[in-house]
Amino acid sequence: MKSFLVGGAVRDTLLGYPFHEKDWVVVGATPAEMIEAGYTQVGRDFPVFLHPDSKEEYALARTERKSGPGYHGFVVHADPAVTLEEDLERRDLTINAMAMDASGDIIDPYHGQQDLADRVLRHVSPHFVEDPLRVLRVARFAARYHHLGFTIAPETAALLSQIVAADELPHLSIERVWVEIEKALGTTHPEVFFHTLADCQALAVLLPELSVSQGIAALARAAPHTPRLDCRWASLLSDLPEARVKAINQHLKVPNAYSLLATRISVARPTLKTALKNASECMVLIKLLDALRRDEPFEGVCETLIALEQNSDEANTTIELLRNACKQARTVTAADFTESRLTGPDLGAAIEAARIEQLREVLP
Ligand code: CTP
Repeated sequence: MKSFLVGGAVRDTLLGYPFHEKDWVVVGATPAEMIEAGYTQVGRDFPVFLHPDSKEEYALARTERKSGPGYHGFVVHADPAVTLEEDLERRDLTINAMAMDASGDIIDPYHGQQDLADRVLRHVSPHFVEDPLRVLRVARFAARYHHLGFTIAPETAALLSQIVAADELPHLSIERVWVEIEKALGTTHPEVFFHTLADCQALAVLLPELSVSQGIAALARAAPHTPRLDCRWASLLSDLPEARVKAINQHLKVPNAYSLLATRISVARPTLKTALKNASECMVLIKLLDALRRDEPFEGVCETLIALEQNSDEANTTIELLRNACKQARTVTAADFTESRLTGPDLGAAIEAARIEQLREVLP
């Protein structure tokens, strides 16, 4: 049995790019031999094992053939006779289809090193189209390595369109789609992910609302000014009305923190300027943002609004005013009214009136 480092770790080592995970392929072994050597089996659909000490993933070399639509319709064939080259051939991109042996030599039957040097994302074989998740993966790699000058090979771009045209994307699980979107939001140029999806018509299937909004441009503006993924997601949806934002978040089963922030941005952004001129309206906005009780997502709202305006002086001044207004409103609490003996809605109204008074002090 022989083990080889494969996939992202080899690619990123050769690129001089940081990586977090090491994946290994084992050639010439059976599951029984792996278990005997102390590995623990974890793969459900195919034979993957955890190393007894490093806990890194070791997969038996395998081939895969599509047997039905979507991500799960695969027939996996793993036995000791499957070669390293056969295992590398089932992979998506040439830059992901290289292996490194124990002495550091690179095994590169599909010319990934040449494509790394040429900055090209190119599919390995025609079997590329068998996995629709690859549309999202390629878009994500295009975003992640955009700053290094990577582009998608025209023949690979054609296959992305082909997968979309074959109506394969609806077979992907929503969870997988969101995982890819979330990873893409963390890249240096997240807008490239969405532009790539638009170019192959995948955006019209996955996020049709975005095709006609200015959201991708908004994300491109905001991303350099905030590393927060939830703020970037909210920027992407900032152009859409509240109901659409809610519908998208629901459909994609977006985590709560993301969807709350995105909804609040879509509500707060159009009303912000007028609200900061009028104490009562400002109070409405502060309550809407749930900014009296908690710092989040209010701080996320502030960070997103500043990022959307590219950290301009004007945006910073506006948000400083909003933060001050919120701080001032927070100074009034129920404890200030213990002697008044007010209760229930009367107490609530008195607190609110006092807060509005406080807001008058700080607003221009
Ligand atoms: N792979 C593939 N097709 C997929 C998923 C994975 O061909 N749909 C292959 C690629 O060779 C990839 C490897 O499996 O390099 C490991 O996949 P994964 O860990 O998901 O991605 P990485 O390429 O390691 O990238 P990342 O840095 O995003 O983890």
